[in-house]
Amino acid sequence: MTPRVAIIGAGPSGLAQLRAFQSANAKGAEIPEIVCFEKQDDWGGLWTYTWRTGTDELGEPVHSSMYRYLWTNGPKEGLEFADYTFEEHFGRNIASYPPRAVMWNYIKGRVEKAGVRDWIRFRTPVRRVEFNASTRKFRVVAHDLVNDCESDEQFDYVVVASGHFSTPNVPEFKGFETFNGRILHSHDFRDAREFIGKDILLIGTSYSAEDIGSQCWKYGCRSVTVSHRTAPIGYKWPSSWEEVPLLRRVEGKTAHFKDGSSKKVDAIILCTGYLHHFPFMEDSLKLRTANRLAAADLYKGVVWVHNPQLFYLGMQDQWYTFNMFDAQAWFARDVMLGRIKTPSRHKMLEDVAARVAAEDAINDDYGPILYQGDYVRELIAETDYPSFDVDASDRAFVQWKKHKKADIMGFRDNGYVSPMTGSMAPVHHTKWVSELDDSMEGYLKSVTR
Ligand SMILES: Cc1cc2nc3c(=O)[nH]c(=O)nc-3n(C[C@H](O)[C@H](O)[C@H](O)COP(=O)(O)OP(=O)(O)OC[C@H]3O[C@@H](n4cnc5c(N)ncnc54)[C@H](O)[C@@H]3O)c2cc1C
Ligand SMILES: NC(=O)c1ccc[n+]([C@@H]2O[C@H](COP(=O)([O-])OP(=O)(O)OC[C@H]3O[C@@H](n4cnc5c(N)ncnc54)[C@H](OP(=O)(O)O)[C@@H]3O)[C@@H](O)[C@H]2O)c1
Repeated sequence: MTPRVAIIGAGPSGLAQLRAFQSANAKGAEIPEIVCFEKQDDWGGLWTYTWRTGTDELGEPVHSSMYRYLWTNGPKEGLEFADYTFEEHFGRNIASYPPRAVMWNYIKGRVEKAGVRDWIRFRTPVRRVEFNASTRKFRVVAHDLVNDCESDEQFDYVVVASGHFSTPNVPEFKGFETFNGRILHSHDFRDAREFIGKDILLIGTSYSAEDIGSQCWKYGCRSVTVSHRTAPIGYKWPSSWEEVPLLRRVEGKTAHFKDGSSKKVDAIILCTGYLHHFPFMEDSLKLRTANRLAAADLYKGVVWVHNPQLFYLGMQDQWYTFNMFDAQAWFARDVMLGRIKTPSRHKMLEDVAARVAAEDAINDDYGPILYQGDYVRELIAETDYPSFDVDASDRAFVQWKKHKKADIMGFRDNGYVSPMTGSMAPVHHTKWVSELDDSMEGYLKSVTR
């Protein structure tokens, strides 16, 4: 009987898995029957924008954490698909930090070309995955939201590609219940114009804090205060921006910080990250990991060490994204096709431990980039994923980091060399600080500065 593969999620990771199988099939390989379950009504994962927050029209938690005016926060040269370049998609090279709509269009372009949409059941969240040790099959229960009925099927392999930047981590601080303003998590942030003329307080110091603060500043909030638990972000911020120690308590609209300082604020945005959240996986199959480069219990960062018929894609903290998901998906595909043999559980655990130790040994800002570049290089060498110049991607990331240190509000005005085509990206026609148009048409206008 033809084996069956369930893929959970049709975001960039799940789509990478579909494309991996389709490309093997196009080269003449027999492939399993593939069913991809997707809870949203379209593909693209986080990159499908919705104005909704909370629950959607069918009662599902809204998946996307993306917001209006979001531009990529890393250079596109770090994520380009090796089998589908930006030049192929747009007919020419484009600038290095596209807004969300441009990225979504690029993600869709590859899978539209591959013709895999029919493999996806949209509006169908997976509710339960269990493994039967005697039949060695997974039971997958899914909910067809539109017809409000459940399916219950058997699969030989399961690929979890449901993302890990959707379920918010929401700490509470003293006085929140009586704060006279708005408190929200970055997952529910949508439009920076809501905060025009306001004093905002951000908790957290990672990408969400940095980017949401920058957006609110760009669109005209009065001030940005960023509160840190561990250390300040430390870029050269504009004058209306300050960094303070951790929030202690809130009284009325006044926020009090650990160093005794205080500030009156209109809104508090919790940029406190996300949970790896897999309520649909039975306990023995559930990934429990921190948001780090070496995720727990995944051989080669992909194969569940306790059951190599189960795979998790894209579960690491991410510098590399789309082409790393591809590298993982091609690897997972080759395990499922029997082209790659997984070693004993003991050896797989050793592999995980070595990755953890190597990550723990990183001691500078650029180390995580090079670590993840090495990881991508390692995986693509083991499959027929088109080889590419990972050094060029590493270099783009290193330059990106330097550009941020030099000018945090101007780093998106730079261009980098494509690791796929070797061509240098043009600079965008308008500087990011004064560009209020995030449409695809606006971005692709071929006006040069
Ligand atoms: C605000 C924000 C901005 C980001 N910006 C960038 C950026 O600029 N550049 C970059 O490279 N990366 C960025 N990222 C990182 C992002 O994680 C990746 O780009 C990418 O979207 C991850 O792809 P994924 O498929 O693993 O997960 P997701 O994109 O999260 O997709 C997961 C999919 O699984 C579906 N799903 C979830 N649960 C179920 C279920 N039970 N059943 C069925 N389907 C389910 C979801 O509906 C979704 O479609 C950003 C992340 C965030 C939160
Ligand atoms: N434009 C863009 O492309 C864009 C924009 C936003 C986000 N993103 C992406 O989204 C992903 C997630 O980023 P993120 O910033 O949301 O999450 P994150 O990287 O996991 O960072 C979480 C932050 O929250 C802090 N934190 C957690 N719990 C806390 C608590 N109880 N009290 C105080 N602080 C707490 C952490 O502080 P410690 O350091 O003390 O642990 C850390 O600074 C990243 O991949 C990022 O690239 C992209």
